Amino acid sequence: MKHTKVIDLLSSTNTLHEVKAKGWVRTFRNNQFLALNDGSTIHNIQCVVDFEKFPAELLKRINTGAAVSLTGTLVESKGSGQNVEIQVNELVILGDSDPEKYPIQPKKHSLEFLRENAHLRIRTNVFGAIMRVRSTLSFAVHKYFQDNGFFYFNAPIVTGSDAEGAGEMLHVTSLPFDNIPKNEDGSINFSEDFFGKATNLTVSGQLEAETYAMALGQVYTFGPTFRAENSHTSRHLAEFWMIEPEVAFINLDENMDLAEDFIKYIIKYTLEKCADDLKFLDQRLTDEEKNKPQAERSEMSLLQKLNFVLENNFKRVSYTEAIDILRNSKPNKNKKFKYLIDEWGADLQSEHERFLVEKHFKCPVILFDYPADIKAFYMRMNEDGKTVRAMDILFPGIGEIVGGSQREERYDKLVERMQKMGIDEKELWWYLDTRKYGSAPHSGFGLGFERMVLFVTGMTNIRDVIPFPRTPQNAEF
Ligand code: 4AD
Ligand code: MG
Repeated sequence: MKHTKVIDLLSSTNTLHEVKAKGWVRTFRNNQFLALNDGSTIHNIQCVVDFEKFPAELLKRINTGAAVSLTGTLVESKGSGQNVEIQVNELVILGDSDPEKYPIQPKKHSLEFLRENAHLRIRTNVFGAIMRVRSTLSFAVHKYFQDNGFFYFNAPIVTGSDAEGAGEMLHVTSLPFDNIPKNEDGSINFSEDFFGKATNLTVSGQLEAETYAMALGQVYTFGPTFRAENSHTSRHLAEFWMIEPEVAFINLDENMDLAEDFIKYIIKYTLEKCADDLKFLDQRLTDEEKNKPQAERSEMSLLQKLNFVLENNFKRVSYTEAIDILRNSKPNKNKKFKYLIDEWGADLQSEHERFLVEKHFKCPVILFDYPADIKAFYMRMNEDGKTVRAMDILFPGIGEIVGGSQREERYDKLVERMQKMGIDEKELWWYLDTRKYGSAPHSGFGLGFERMVLFVTGMTNIRDVIPFPRTPQNAEF
């Protein structure tokens, strides 16, 4: 007999027939009530084991974490909390679990402890919920773009270019570390390396995606991205997933419209498909908030926050307006910011972004027209000669979730900008070709996928929304 997933058993109205279930034991109470979970849903199915019918040696092996296969009769449940349960007739232990040693005991564990056990933490309710939500969000990303005429483009992972020009790259090499070939001037001779040049893991697929947008019109990437930023924050990973749409013939305003529509769509889709998981995460966050002092508590629950984003327009504000607001803000005047804002041109830190979103506007904000000096070389210069057509989307609790821009499509302006910023034209000859042959206005953005998962799940540390986080000094598993 084929086994049935727990999610299907729980929604079954057809009782009093024989069923088979397989899964992992969450708890076994009173030598009788077995809570079985198979990952298909956050809910367990209650399996009633009549201890008089089973040998004591077998009952002893029904421990938290063990894998079991059982058959029995699906019946209406008399207990509260579930409609149906299984009256067990046969039970086989597929894999034992030592109750003394199994790390995931049926009690509340700290997220830090679970991070050290990232290979087992997925067996908890909270991580099951997060990772099902993550899976649904990624499907929603593809669905949105595929339904809207975009083509999925796979950017290379190994590349010679530093798209963001920030130099935060992880190098890829096959050179022997104990005998690195050198040039006469002492520098490394990369011509002897695997690719015959210095290469790194990609920090963004944008530059390659632009070449495809200049032929397919609308493309998007969704892939792993790497940054050797030495930031030990709750919002940075060394390996994260980024979604980068790139669209021909649209300007910055249309780019903002696209980003806002896209973000709302994937949240709405996930709210519909992951109702049970989100209900659980909503309750989890509410419980967490109770431990905080009143003043720090969020005014909205997780589900209220998600619905709030769907129902309200993102506030669009220029960098210049934002600087004025920040300069005159209380925390700036009272020197509460770590980085005080006094001049136009300052780069915004996450404390400033969060002030704008959480205290001032109290809704998602799109900041645009940033000073050219603090943004990447490929952004389109405005008429004023000092700001570029950049946009960042800022979210409550997260800060920057999207970075994007209208691209500089004018060859001469682009070269001028590259020279000014010390970017090698020879290295990017192929990128410059797109501006030589049939150049056209185009725009795009990058959404940090884990930051989106953070927002939707209400978690606070980015290490908890990717299966096996890679951060400075940590690549376990
Ligand atoms: O703002 P960023 O650096 O923009 C780009 O890479 C552009 N090439 C995107 C484009 O226009 N196609 O990164 C985009 C987003 C950020 O807003 C943030 O959400 C996320 O990627 N991100 C990170 N997420 C986790 N860990 C990190 N270290 C991240 N760095 C950026
Ligand atoms: Mg950015």
